[in-house]
Amino acid sequence: MRTQVVIIGAGPAGLMLSHLLHKAGIASLVLERRTAAYVQSRIRAGILEQVTVDLLREIGVCAGMEREGLPHQGFSLALDGDIFRIDMHALTGGSSVMVYGQTQVTRDLIEAFADRPGDLVFEAENVALHDLGSGRPSVTYEKDGQTLRVQCDYVAGCDGYHGVSRGSIPDHAGRSYERAYPFGWLGILADVPPCHHELIYSNHARGFALASMRSPVRSRYYVQVPSDEDIGAWPDARLWDELALRLGPEAASHMQTGPSIEKSIAGLKSFVFEPMRYGALFLAGDAAHIVPPTGAKGLNLAMSDVKLLSRAFAARYVEGTEAELDRYSERALSRVWKAERFSWWFTGLTHRFPNMDAFDRRMQVAELSYIRGSRAAQTVMAENYVGLPL
Ligand code: APR
Ligand code: PHB
Repeated sequence: MRTQVVIIGAGPAGLMLSHLLHKAGIASLVLERRTAAYVQSRIRAGILEQVTVDLLREIGVCAGMEREGLPHQGFSLALDGDIFRIDMHALTGGSSVMVYGQTQVTRDLIEAFADRPGDLVFEAENVALHDLGSGRPSVTYEKDGQTLRVQCDYVAGCDGYHGVSRGSIPDHAGRSYERAYPFGWLGILADVPPCHHELIYSNHARGFALASMRSPVRSRYYVQVPSDEDIGAWPDARLWDELALRLGPEAASHMQTGPSIEKSIAGLKSFVFEPMRYGALFLAGDAAHIVPPTGAKGLNLAMSDVKLLSRAFAARYVEGTEAELDRYSERALSRVWKAERFSWWFTGLTHRFPNMDAFDRRMQVAELSYIRGSRAAQTVMAENYVGLPL
C-alpha cells in the first residue's frame, strides 16, 4: 500500500492531523493499536485554548463543542480556602478558554472519519517504522493476522509517551529532559453540579485541590495524593470531605456530593524529547512531550504541534518546499518549552512537596498574595493560561 503520510496513534494529535491533511488534499493513514471503544473511553482533562477551538472549527468538527462547551473567561486561585479570581478575559484583551472534555473531542474527531473509514485503522498491532533516514520510509503492522506494509513519504509519530515512534529514533539522534513530581492527582468524576461556575485551583496546607467540570451537571475534582497512594484508601465520602477542607468554606458551602462514576490516580511528570524530527519521522503531542496537568496544556500542545506540522506538510505538497518541515521541530519546541515552564511553575506554586520546609511554604504564600494584588502578575498568568501565540 502507499500513502503520503502514515500517522501512528489515534489520540487527539493523530486524529486532528489527519483531518487537517485531508482538508489540504494530502492523503494519510492513521494506525491505532487499541479498539475504537478503548480510545474513546479514556478520561482526560478538558480545557481548550483558542488554538484548539479554532482548529476544531477549521475542520468543521465543532458541533458538540458549540452545543456542550462552556466558555470560561476566568478561573480562581485559593490559598487555604481564601478564593480570588483571575479575569483572563479582561487581562488578555478578550481571550478565554472552552471547557469541553478531551473524551468528547476524541469521540467527535473519530466520528468525523465516517466519510473516509479506510483512513483510520484500529487494532493495528506491532506497528514498526522502517528506513526513516533512507528517503523511502515505510510502516508495517499486523491486522487480522496479516502483516501489511505501507510505503509513504513521511511518518507522524502521534502515539503518545508509551508509543513506538520515539523509540524508533537512535539514541545518538535525540535527547530527553525529565522532571518527575513526588505526588499524584486523585481524580473523581460525578454527576453533580459543580461547586463554582469556574475552575478553582487551591493551594492548601493539606495539599493541592482542583474543582473543575464537564457540564452544568457533571463535575470533575482532583486532590493531590502521594504517588504510591492506594486508591482503596479513598472511598467517596473521604474524598468529598477532603475536597471540602482543601477548597475552603465558600466552595464547600456550594458543593453537592454524589457517587463517583470514575475515580483514578494519575502521576505528574514534565518530559521533553528533542528534536521532534528524525529523518522522515515527525513527533507530535505526548510522543514528544508531557506536562503535569496543572496548566491544562497537554491537549492544547498536541493541537498546536499538529497545526504547525500540517502547515509544514501543506507547504511541502502544495508549494513544493521542505523549509517549513525543516523548521517544524524548532518552532514546536519553542512553544512546548514555554508551556512546560508554565505547567512546572503552576505546579510548584500550588502543591505541597514532601521536602518543603516552613520557608518554602512562606514563599508560596507570598507569591500567591503577590499575584492576588498585582495586575501585572495576573496578566502573566492569564496569558499563559489562555495559550501563548504560535
Ligand atoms: N501503535 C499504534 N498506536 C499506538 C501505539 C503503537 N505502538 N502506541 C500508542 N498508540 C496509540 C495509543 O493507544 C493512543 O490512542 O497512540 C495514541 C496516543 O494518544 P494520546 O496518548 O492521547 O496522545 P496525543 O494524541 O499526543 O494527545 C495528547 O492526551 O494524554 C493526553 O494529556 C495528554 O491531553 C494530552 C493528549
Ligand atoms: C479537568 O477538567 O480535568 C482539568 C482542568 C484543568 C486542569 C486539569 C484538569 O488544569
